[in-house]
Amino acid sequence: MRTPQWRRNMTTLHRADSGRYHIETWGCQMNLHDSEKLAGALERNGYVRAGSAEDADVILLNTCSIREKAAEKVFSELGRLKQLKDGNPNLLLGVCGCVAQQEGEKIFGRAPYVDFVLGPRATSTLDRVLADHGKATLKPRVVDTEYRKDSIQFPYDAIRREGLTRSKAYVTVIEGCNHRCTYCIVPTTRGREICRPMSEVIAEVSMLADQGVHEIEFLGQTVNAYRDAEGNTLAELLIATARRTGIHRIRFTTSHPAQMTDRLMDAMGEARPSLCRYLHLPVQSGSSDVLKQMKRGYDRETYLEKIAAIRRRIPDMRFGTDIIVGFPGETEAQFQETLSLMQTVPFDTVYSFTYSERPGTRALEFGDPVPLGEKMERLHRLQSMQNQIQEQRNQDWVGTTQPVLIEGRSRRFSDRWTGRTEQHRVVNFTGAGQEGSIRPVEIQRATAFSLYGVAAPGGA
Ligand code: 5AD
Ligand code: SF4
Repeated sequence: MRTPQWRRNMTTLHRADSGRYHIETWGCQMNLHDSEKLAGALERNGYVRAGSAEDADVILLNTCSIREKAAEKVFSELGRLKQLKDGNPNLLLGVCGCVAQQEGEKIFGRAPYVDFVLGPRATSTLDRVLADHGKATLKPRVVDTEYRKDSIQFPYDAIRREGLTRSKAYVTVIEGCNHRCTYCIVPTTRGREICRPMSEVIAEVSMLADQGVHEIEFLGQTVNAYRDAEGNTLAELLIATARRTGIHRIRFTTSHPAQMTDRLMDAMGEARPSLCRYLHLPVQSGSSDVLKQMKRGYDRETYLEKIAAIRRRIPDMRFGTDIIVGFPGETEAQFQETLSLMQTVPFDTVYSFTYSERPGTRALEFGDPVPLGEKMERLHRLQSMQNQIQEQRNQDWVGTTQPVLIEGRSRRFSDRWTGRTEQHRVVNFTGAGQEGSIRPVEIQRATAFSLYGVAAPGGA
């Protein structure tokens, strides 16, 4: 197998035997990708991946603070890691990501054995922390929560992409968020929007295509707000990627409904042969009144019109969404509007959450009046309705043959392959396959969450 370019570069940059690293990641795709960048930085500094936290000389927790539960998990994990720290004073323990940004210094109050805290825009400081590691001097704790504008410039050929490198890869195009949805902590933890030059994004995608990657996913908290200094938007980027890079499958996430412009939708139509027919378009609520309280910048009708406008251009487009139940003051009738919107669209995937109060957000002033029991009950009703919708929608695929990008062996059944269709459906199948390749699969059976089938003739 050919050595990928980033590996070759890494070899030249290596300082041998610095130690072993271990990274634990919570949260969204941006965080997963940030961990790949952090791993790249560690490897550039001569660290190799450890088998487990127990074997590591450096442990990073890349954290998520979108809901209270996610943030609390970090502190229970830190409690567990304290034992390792007690047994190995040279172990370097760092907290990165959104909890690092949110809590800063305060992390030392709850976990004094943590060595450094780096926000999502300050990870370049890791190089300095590693350079000081192992020096005999007494090391001060490091906290860096600056919103660096140059955080968007990183050595993309040194990203340590995880297992699926050969088939699919994340590519950052924009960081941060300029919206101010009243429930959301992200603008605080990730700062204001900042975009990469399109030429650099295209160079990265071309490099990935040369390495044999089939699918790329453009990432940003508000990916369709992308606009570089030369005025290129996501529309130009999609068309250029489809025309110039040789990538077979293009995805992008997460889109804001208010920024789905006609220009972008036209470009999606134009890029259609390479564009995956699945779009994640978070609606959050089906009630225009709740959407107003959330300051989402669109109402129910506008959202439905966006879905219709995309379907006019790409009739086989499938949709996924995010929904929050129990937003402060949400009435049963408003919740019913969310259920009815889910029946109207309908979605192929719904990620649903109970509202969680977050520090520094504007919704704090509304209190948290919907009782937890009521929120849980709404969540349960929403999810059981969606399961039925999903099962029905998945039945559409039974009897068809779909191109499946193979991610690897199924974790549960070693004789099966697992992969995804262009519409992002999980497919488990038997028969011939090869990790990282695209092959046709005949779909024989469907549940709410997966399709099942057998390898069809043709393909790799
Ligand atoms: N409480 C519950 N869910 C939230 N989300 C964002 N903030 C909150 C919150 N305070 C959800 C939204 C968003 C997804 C990533 O997380 O649905 O789209
Ligand atoms: Fe949060 Fe709204 Fe920005 Fe999404 S668009 S990251 S929900 S503030």
